[in-house]
Amino acid sequence: MKIAVLGHGTVGSGVCEILIEKSKEIAKSAGKELELGYVLDIRDFEDVPYSEKFTKDFSAVLADPEVGIVAEAMGGLEPAHSYVKAALESGRSVVTSNKELVAEKGAELLSIARAHNANFLFEASVGGGIPLIRPLYSSMNAAGITEFAGILNGTTNYILTKMFRFGESYEEALSGAQTLGYAEKDPSADVLGWDACRKAAILSSLIWGRTLRPSEIPTEGISKITSDDVNLAESCGFSIKLIARAKLLENGKIFAKVSPAMIKNDSPLASVNDVFNAVLIRAETTGEVLFYGKGAGKMPTASSVIADIIECAKAKGNIKEVFWEDGAQSVFANADAVSERYCIRTDYDASMLIPGAEIIGTNAYITPPLSESEITVLEEKILEHGSLLSKIPLFE
Ligand code: HSE
Repeated sequence: MKIAVLGHGTVGSGVCEILIEKSKEIAKSAGKELELGYVLDIRDFEDVPYSEKFTKDFSAVLADPEVGIVAEAMGGLEPAHSYVKAALESGRSVVTSNKELVAEKGAELLSIARAHNANFLFEASVGGGIPLIRPLYSSMNAAGITEFAGILNGTTNYILTKMFRFGESYEEALSGAQTLGYAEKDPSADVLGWDACRKAAILSSLIWGRTLRPSEIPTEGISKITSDDVNLAESCGFSIKLIARAKLLENGKIFAKVSPAMIKNDSPLASVNDVFNAVLIRAETTGEVLFYGKGAGKMPTASSVIADIIECAKAKGNIKEVFWEDGAQSVFANADAVSERYCIRTDYDASMLIPGAEIIGTNAYITPPLSESEITVLEEKILEHGSLLSKIPLFE
């Protein structure tokens, strides 16, 4: 069977290399030979050993009946969405590392895959090289998952680690992440939290079976974190991590949020450093389960794409568990549904404004649990008398 790889960037080139270098292992695992058939890219790559496989014409890929599986690693919504849709409609299975595509178009593409008895798999879209999606839909599909919280973006975790451990500036750390190939082409998707938000939307949709749109999830990135925040956190035994979290509420709605959060150093997520990702799952039957591994980078991510290719090659028809639907009504709960404590820094003594606050430093406080509306009111009160230097929720 031929495999077509769409996009020869960081992940796509890794997929091509593994397909060629590990062909024997892959054939053993898949039960059949899987051969790199095509690589679609608008750019020319003459100095790779498989340069004769390149094409710029997607219709040539679709016209070849030997192509059984398409691996999409182009990123972005278009033309990835049109190509994936056409491949699924032709009865081919598609695997992807493209979180934007899965988060925005997952319900539609899963439904097309089901209608054509094919598969649409996306292990590489969340958690890079961590086997995460498959355990969620196979091993834990009856566990009664009530909540997850994760460090889902390698770039921001790398930046925060360098700021904490080595006192690097935000800019120095970002440039290091870009050199290592972790960051998205436009790093704002990483540092503003959109990448983590898309991944949280995918996990939530898969776990609870109904689309949670990225646009519904309140999202804040790490670009406002300063060395003063880092110093304060360190002095009180906390780390700061970009945490994506979601919770199934009793009314069936889902509360989700992506933001930097202060985490006590003895929490398992606090010791997740560099480009590593981790996802903590809470479920009725299993209690807490922690997934941990490299969340970005060429080979870890390509390895997850290969695992999906093998899964598609072995599958007998559509894998029913991998599915979610678009409901008529939003599943997102009211932003006030969950209260959190916040670490607040001001430029004056604001203790009188925060009843029940714990004082953790000069003009630095931990509030009692507050809803979104309550913290907004407090923010307004603080601003009447001076500046609010930072406001970071605690993840507990
Ligand atoms: N830019 C992403 C990250 C790549 O840093 O996690 C992997 O999705």
